Amino acid sequence: MGAAPYGHLWRSLRRVAASELFSTTRLVATTHAREHEVKLMCAHIYKESSQKVELKSRFCDLLNNITTMAMMGKRYYGDVIDARDVKSAPRFRDIMCEMFKVMHAPYLGNFLPLLAWIDFGDAMEKIKNEINTQVGSQRLLQENDLDKLSYLQNVINESLRLYPTLPMLLPRESSEDIKIGGYLVPSGTMLMVNAWAIQRDPILWDKPDEFMPERFEVKLEDKYKMLAFGVGRRGCPGTNLGYRVLGLALGTLIQAFEWKKIGDEEVDMNAFYGMSTAKLKPLQAHCIPRPDMIPLFV
Ligand code: HEM
Repeated sequence: MGAAPYGHLWRSLRRVAASELFSTTRLVATTHAREHEVKLMCAHIYKESSQKVELKSRFCDLLNNITTMAMMGKRYYGDVIDARDVKSAPRFRDIMCEMFKVMHAPYLGNFLPLLAWIDFGDAMEKIKNEINTQVGSQRLLQENDLDKLSYLQNVINESLRLYPTLPMLLPRESSEDIKIGGYLVPSGTMLMVNAWAIQRDPILWDKPDEFMPERFEVKLEDKYKMLAFGVGRRGCPGTNLGYRVLGLALGTLIQAFEWKKIGDEEVDMNAFYGMSTAKLKPLQAHCIPRPDMIPLFV
């Protein structure tokens, strides 16, 4: 869909995806599958928790399994593969790997807040308190808790503001002559929107380079200054799904484990900015499972 020019094909794909994949009914119907995948991820991390945990692979497996479960009802990643698929899984993963090189890399990049959160500092304590108050420790966090976890949502938004997934959005082309800011833009001109620059513009944001989740406590009046999911007709159709997966995965990891970065230095946030953003160094961390949570995911 993202590669289709504006026209009949794009409209059809968008319509089908809106009803079959991204409608609230579909999202609610598939909640359980995502919660199950996050639980399996916690079990996997628990097994490795005596050593350094490498989180990038865990998140990749999570997102890949959520995708293949939605497409085919099967899991091909991580260590719980359907016994009938053990033989075919490596071949399938090779094919997916080639496909993802072309189309899925941005999708993984979208989940950047999952690769950059160990260094949240004070924000980490605030998220823990919020989860403790709103969810407790008798059960794992669920997607329908997310509406109550406003601080967690603010942290996710702030991470996406500082590190937008698609720093230049998708390219646009003017379909007719148009005036923008006093300039004539002739029909057929390609327009690139620099979301990264807009989201760090000091005219639009107070202390733009600082991590301040509180700024999202107030509803943004200007919808064009936060472009993490794009805007307009070509805006991201997976916005709600994206928020659900991010909130669920991040919230559950913080609820189930105590996290510590390796060494005292700040997490290296250098990023690769291509079509999509990716953290250059995979995130590694120490974690200790919370004793009262262990029976909920093993
Ligand atoms: C945190 C998660 C996500 C972020 C930050 C994100 C971000 C974006 C952005 C910035 C765009 C370009 C919008 C524009 O140019 O105006 C986009 C487009 C798109 N996204 Fe997402 N996305 C996320 C999750 C997803 C998911 C989960 C899916 C599908 C499973 C998805 C599918 C798409 C598609 C198909 C397009 C192209 C839409 C079109 O051309 O009409 N995204 N996304």
